[in-house]
Amino acid sequence: MTTTAILTAAGSGQRLGAELPKALVLIKGQPIVRIAAENLISSEAVDEIIVTVPAGYEAQFETALAGLKPAVMLAIGGETRQDSIMAALTQLSLACDKVLVHDAARPFTPPALIAQVANAISGEVSAVIPALPVTDTIKQVAVRIPALPSSTTLYSAQNDGLVTATLNRETLVAVQTPQGFDRGVLENAYRNASGKGIQGTDDASLVEALGIPVKAIPGDAAAMKITTPTDLKIAELLYGGAR
Ligand code: C5P
Repeated sequence: MTTTAILTAAGSGQRLGAELPKALVLIKGQPIVRIAAENLISSEAVDEIIVTVPAGYEAQFETALAGLKPAVMLAIGGETRQDSIMAALTQLSLACDKVLVHDAARPFTPPALIAQVANAISGEVSAVIPALPVTDTIKQVAVRIPALPSSTTLYSAQNDGLVTATLNRETLVAVQTPQGFDRGVLENAYRNASGKGIQGTDDASLVEALGIPVKAIPGDAAAMKITTPTDLKIAELLYGGAR
């Protein structure tokens, strides 16, 4: 039986302010998606990789990922991350029994963490996520239009920014990828979400919607997500040099 990684890279990179899709942006001369794929391969926990790519950019991604072993397959992404993963799930091989879903936007995720997630999936544990304790206090505010990171939308005329709750930090974690799943459980979760119109902000939440337990294991700061130009600079400075 085998483990497949679905590497999501079909985002636009709008918040990064790049002309290219984020996954094609270079860090020290290497496309982000290639760095992420190489770390998946180095983990020795992954047998095949399916990369979700934005329609129209297939050739650029083929070039960015050329020469990797195992060779990666491309799946044309959809409008949302969830749609992209749905498309990739249809390309899983018959032999695949574990799936890691990983964001190309977290290119410096250490191979050791990738292996730990894969190894934690077992008969009893069908969903595994890496998570770190939050250091900020997290509050809920009244939001009527969705917030864009790094914008002031939260405090606009439509959103008054009024606090509705302060959450207990002791019980909160920030969740990273890769998230690892028993293949059947993940497929059921996506089928269920699609049938019921559930949109999750991660894959595990779709499994939670089935009432199936999800196990958190310690994450790693190096698995940080690159969303904004500042994130890109931080990732480059902190983790880009070790390559
Ligand atoms: O947009 P965000 O940074 O949250 O996206 C997380 C990951 O999902 C990124 O690696 C992005 O390329 C991927 N994605 C995707 N298909 C979409 C939107 C995002 O594969 N439609």
